[in-house]
Amino acid sequence: MIERLEDIKKQAENELRNAVDEVTLHNVKARFLGRKGIITEVLKGMRDVPQSERPRIGQAINEVKEFIEGLFEARLREIKEERKRHILLTEKVDVTLPGKGTRLGNKHPITQVMEEIVGIFERMGFEIAEGPEVELDYYNFEALNIPRDHPARDMQDTFYISDDVVLRTHTSPVQIRVMEKQKPPIKVIAPGKVYRCDSDVSHTPMFHQVEGLLVDERVTFSDLKGVLTQFARLLFGSHIKVRFRPSFFPFTEPSAEVDIECVICAGKGCRVCKNSGWLEILGCGMVDPEVFRSVQYDPQRYRGFAFGLGVERITMLKFGINDIRLFFENDIRFLKQFL
Ligand code: PHE
Repeated sequence: MIERLEDIKKQAENELRNAVDEVTLHNVKARFLGRKGIITEVLKGMRDVPQSERPRIGQAINEVKEFIEGLFEARLREIKEERKRHILLTEKVDVTLPGKGTRLGNKHPITQVMEEIVGIFERMGFEIAEGPEVELDYYNFEALNIPRDHPARDMQDTFYISDDVVLRTHTSPVQIRVMEKQKPPIKVIAPGKVYRCDSDVSHTPMFHQVEGLLVDERVTFSDLKGVLTQFARLLFGSHIKVRFRPSFFPFTEPSAEVDIECVICAGKGCRVCKNSGWLEILGCGMVDPEVFRSVQYDPQRYRGFAFGLGVERITMLKFGINDIRLFFENDIRFLKQFL
């Protein structure tokens, strides 16, 4: 029996010393000291040991148990130490290296310019008005003096949802919604998304507009010119030359388009301004009496002006971008240039 215990002790010592990881070490311990382990097996043999021998053998068994436990703890500490050392060596961190830094996002260039435009008009006392992007044909066209089957409809390639519902092609329907709810004086801008069935280097099916509307009893074309000239100067710089060129919109009469001196060639003529020296930035005009009639305003009493601009186009001119699609490709290299 004593000999057997000596063997067990040697064998355990051998195995514990050879164990190189914690799992193996625990397994070895279990095989010797576990409930169905070797020592338990030995204890069962006590039955056959004569009474007088039992204390001696019992003590020997305890000694072997304590030996195994002690060695197990010692090896466990060693293995843990070794692992720590290994981690410290292989996962060395140089705390003097510069940090990686967190990349901060920035506002999309369209959002930036949209906010700038809206900010300029807010400082002039315009309030923000909003309306639905899925719009009734009535608000998008009919109330704006664009009847069904009228050739003026061809000015805007429209996404029809049904005969009576469209994706709004401009933010002008917000004019009508505001005038239906309020009496003059009115001084609002309507920023938002609009949709047209069009796609090339200067058109995307969705883009952004800011529309403005001012209605009161004595409003003249001079007021329109004053507000929009001031706007162009605040947006492009006080030196910028502005001109008003006659145009046509069904909902304004007279109508004009506003051009600024080409910001690329300073008016000399280049590819961007098609050698004209001028760049169109917005459409405008005095509100057509027909529009006032559709919202039950007395056209004899009230005058107003309206204007509308495309935010993508203005942003392209401001930053010298030649392809509108760049705005919607979400290429970080493009977007992070506009901090
Ligand atoms: N709604 C016009 C467009 O989208 C722009 C505009 C607005 C023109 C208001 C005149 C007055 O083309």
